[in-house]
Amino acid sequence: MRLKDKVAIVTGGGRGIGETTCIRFAEEGAKVVVADMNEADIQIVVEKIKQMGGEAVGMKVDVTDGVLVEKMIAETVTKYGKLDILVNNAGITADGKLVKMTEEQWDKVINVNLKGVFICGQAAAKVMSEQGYGVILNASSIVGIYGNFGQTNYAATKWGVIGMAKTWAKELGPKGIRVNAVAPGFIMTPMTEKMPEKVLDMMKDKSPLKTLGYPEDIANAYVYLASDEAKFVTGTVLSVDGGVVL
Ligand code: NAI
Repeated sequence: MRLKDKVAIVTGGGRGIGETTCIRFAEEGAKVVVADMNEADIQIVVEKIKQMGGEAVGMKVDVTDGVLVEKMIAETVTKYGKLDILVNNAGITADGKLVKMTEEQWDKVINVNLKGVFICGQAAAKVMSEQGYGVILNASSIVGIYGNFGQTNYAATKWGVIGMAKTWAKELGPKGIRVNAVAPGFIMTPMTEKMPEKVLDMMKDKSPLKTLGYPEDIANAYVYLASDEAKFVTGTVLSVDGGVVL
């Protein structure tokens, strides 16, 4: 029960890493707001948590919409009285080589992965500053740190959220708020399942551990960083990648 009675919002909580994070947080005693664009997925996750005896509520939100995000934060505080944790997990890809990438592909990914994190982070920071405590966690990626073929837009956003985490750690630390980023390696989720098998095999082979990661590997990192065990950890990037870049 490392998150007992904490109130957490997980964006993109409807599937993949976000879904597993919602479930792990609930297992650790958190009250979880499953925030996603996909209503059907939200309901499935909320139901799973309730069946475990946990506490969860679903909120349909597009993280790029400031009005909806403010509403989500306000409804969370009205329902649970506070906001302890925000996991900025929602993210998308729209890949293409630099010379072929369209402005539309660029804008789409920047909008969700970068502007969405800014909008949610800002709205949460206002509430957390007033409370005098809180934790914000941003989903980065090894792709943000090391780059990746065909992912100019995605890599820019995943490096960008590290910059935001470090800036917010400096700005919000004096108000009792910790901010960190997690940089997953290749994790088996609906996002990576569409990748060719030979690329996944190559990634597996590159890891000294000879395995891909699973959503619970990242969810467990979020649990640690969100918990009081990490009370002296802020402004850092935790790589959870099976050593794939060593
Ligand atoms: P996923 O594609 O399985 O799930 C993403 C979720 O975000 C979906 O439920 C989707 O509906 C939601 N979402 C998308 N746009 C949204 C918006 N505008 N507003 C609200 N919700 C929105 O993704 P996955 O693989 O679980 O990744 C989660 C995060 O982890 C992403 O930020 C991703 O970039 C990052 N990551 C994933 C890695 C992987 O190998 N799967 C590796 C490194 C980072």
